[in-house]
Amino acid sequence: EKGGYSSFMAKEIDDQPQAVGDTLLGRTNEKGDLILDDLRIDEATLRTIDKIIVIACGTAAYAGHVAKYAIEHWCRIPVEVELAHEFRYRDPIVTSKTLVVAISQSGETMDTLMAVRHAQEQGAKVISIVNTHGSTIPRESDAVLYTHAGPEIAVASTKAFVSQITATYLLGLYLAQLRGNMFRDEIQAILTELRAMPAKLKEVLDRSEHVREVARSMADATSVLFLGRHVGYPIALEGALKLKELAYIHAEGFAAGELKHGPIALIEEGQPVIIIVPSPRGRDSLHAKVISNIQEVRARGAHTLVIAEDGDTDVEAFADEVFWVPQAPTLMSPLLTVLPLQVFAAELAGAKGLDIDQPRNLAKSVTVE
Ligand code: M6R
Repeated sequence: EKGGYSSFMAKEIDDQPQAVGDTLLGRTNEKGDLILDDLRIDEATLRTIDKIIVIACGTAAYAGHVAKYAIEHWCRIPVEVELAHEFRYRDPIVTSKTLVVAISQSGETMDTLMAVRHAQEQGAKVISIVNTHGSTIPRESDAVLYTHAGPEIAVASTKAFVSQITATYLLGLYLAQLRGNMFRDEIQAILTELRAMPAKLKEVLDRSEHVREVARSMADATSVLFLGRHVGYPIALEGALKLKELAYIHAEGFAAGELKHGPIALIEEGQPVIIIVPSPRGRDSLHAKVISNIQEVRARGAHTLVIAEDGDTDVEAFADEVFWVPQAPTLMSPLLTVLPLQVFAAELAGAKGLDIDQPRNLAKSVTVE
């Protein structure tokens, strides 16, 4: 079933262009408008929603974190993202106007399931974004949006993650369409950008040999830091999680803006730092700010590995290595920038002789609290 690959994870990494394509498939009618058939919550209810809370664990929670940037931007609805096990044990403000979005690859994560029940008891409607058909979480939700990524076997989540981001984007655009937050043409333009993503994911994967070489040369690393900003921030967290679970290396992700508020004290000669650089074509001055962060850590001896967009020559002066990704709109970029991080973690773990599909102490789905 590994289709000639050395591990399920290697196959699932390569399956990602297809996974994103499949998540997008069949979601529009002949006029090109979004139709999310399995959303059995009536439109009137969805129009009255005044807050969204995303609940999930691990990688699925990072997908939710990315979704917050997009959905708040498109729909002007406040979005909170909360780890399911935290949500459940506090006293969250949930009303009948709250839409809870539960994200789970397996659909069986106990913490997430309990949080779904907790939300429903307080009158919230729950939409789940799930990969596994017929699993418990979608059965108990008011509505489900399946990701259609295909079965994910490796413990470390990869293709489910890019599909989850894609599905949350479809949900965000659907809500914007329903609530009239955006013009039809704007929604169509974003859908066109989304449909262009699978080919770009493929392009990133085709370039992964350089990432592999660098990863193999770092098999002795004892700590790796990840920096990102805006949608690159949850990707930094996800990159760090992949490295912890697969290669058993201490890894931490930070919002790049936090650097001077503490983490920069960690930087010493040779400390590897992976930096996800926002597009220079994006709004605001985020690009310039992250370039200064690279400069700051480099000046203190960091070994800088940079993920940057094609044509971004500004990064070259301060990067020891650059992993290039094709140009894409800012909100689409997480689908690309996460790929080198997955390849990096898998390759480094392989170089250490570790079992990539079955890391120690972990289970594919955590069905206990
Ligand atoms: O099946 P779920 O998406 O609910 O699982 C959530 C987490 O347990 C999962 O993403 C975990 O963090 C992965 N091992 C990450 O690679």
